[in-house]
Amino acid sequence: MSVLDKNNFDKSDLITWLQATDESADLLRRKALDIKDKYVGRKVYFRGLIEYSNRCSKNCLYCGIRSCNPGFHRYTLTKEEVLSAARYAFDHRFASLVIQAGENQGPRFIDTIESLLNEINQQTSGSLHITLSLGEQTEETYQRWKAAGAHRYLLRIEASDPELYKKLHPDDGHHTWESRIRSLQLLRKTGYQVGTGVMIGVPFQTLENLADDLLFFREFDIDMVGMGPYIEHPDTPLYSHRDQIPSPKERMELTLNMVALLRIMMTDINIAATTAMQTLDPRGREKALLAGANVMMPNLTPLKYKEGYLLYENKPGIEDDADESLESMEQNIQDAGETIGYGEWGDSLRYGKR
Ligand code: 5AD
Ligand code: SF4
Repeated sequence: MSVLDKNNFDKSDLITWLQATDESADLLRRKALDIKDKYVGRKVYFRGLIEYSNRCSKNCLYCGIRSCNPGFHRYTLTKEEVLSAARYAFDHRFASLVIQAGENQGPRFIDTIESLLNEINQQTSGSLHITLSLGEQTEETYQRWKAAGAHRYLLRIEASDPELYKKLHPDDGHHTWESRIRSLQLLRKTGYQVGTGVMIGVPFQTLENLADDLLFFREFDIDMVGMGPYIEHPDTPLYSHRDQIPSPKERMELTLNMVALLRIMMTDINIAATTAMQTLDPRGREKALLAGANVMMPNLTPLKYKEGYLLYENKPGIEDDADESLESMEQNIQDAGETIGYGEWGDSLRYGKR
């Protein structure tokens, strides 16, 4: 039996496979693609991404829109802009939306999201499945947004190791690993399909950390995962550690190995091919599809705001409007031999079985 036929990788297997290159990396990714084909099909589900606001109360040491970074304009989309992006998704049969923003726990923000959810559901007769990615909130807020029609929630753990988490976040009492975990538990309890993820190739991260991240996803029995390479941003504290991180090529290879291993370990979850992958390699997202990913997020943020949502350097697509991005994405997906699940929600099969 090949090592790849074990369905219960242990940590040392994972550390070995994370380092796979050349033929052994091809073998790993081919195995993951077979499993994807068998369990979820060679289909890509689209989630229209709306970057609702770049205002954020947090100060993560890696992120370009952290609250202490004064160098740019802060925006929040108007209700009309959000509704028009939702209409675009609906008209293009995406079946699903992601509303993402920096973290904001203010009562006005919470109310606005609730009313946006109500309006989107009303205007599209509940036909769009909505994912929120709005950070840590109270149980009551998670419940209110769920009642208003949100189905899924993404909250990256960022690092499953509390020690690494500490190194990536300021020690100000507002960025604790424990409260991140608590939020993930609350989201599960509230009934969302829950997604999490990590950055790959951040300063101080070891292969052991990444293996533990994969084991964490399995242990938490997560429904969806969005992970991508870390990309340095000059206006952030972690930039000074950029000489300690793997090269862009190594980060990309590591990311593809992470995706492939996760697909083999958790056959029926949804795994995103993220924008950060495309930043390091113009074909990065398509390579991720061939390594086991099955979700993509076309960006529907109005063009004039896109350059305000730069979590990292060289973010691609900030000059493309939604139509241009969509066309090239469709072509690339077709080239990769995959079909697009237009009009399908593409819910996590794992969630459905639970
Ligand atoms: N490089 C890559 N990903 C980043 N994120 C934030 N900053 C960076 C960066 N410099 C990711 C975080 C966050 C998500 C919204 O974006 O993982 O959860
Ligand atoms: Fe805010 Fe998210 Fe950036 Fe952290 S990663 S500073 S929470 S937008």
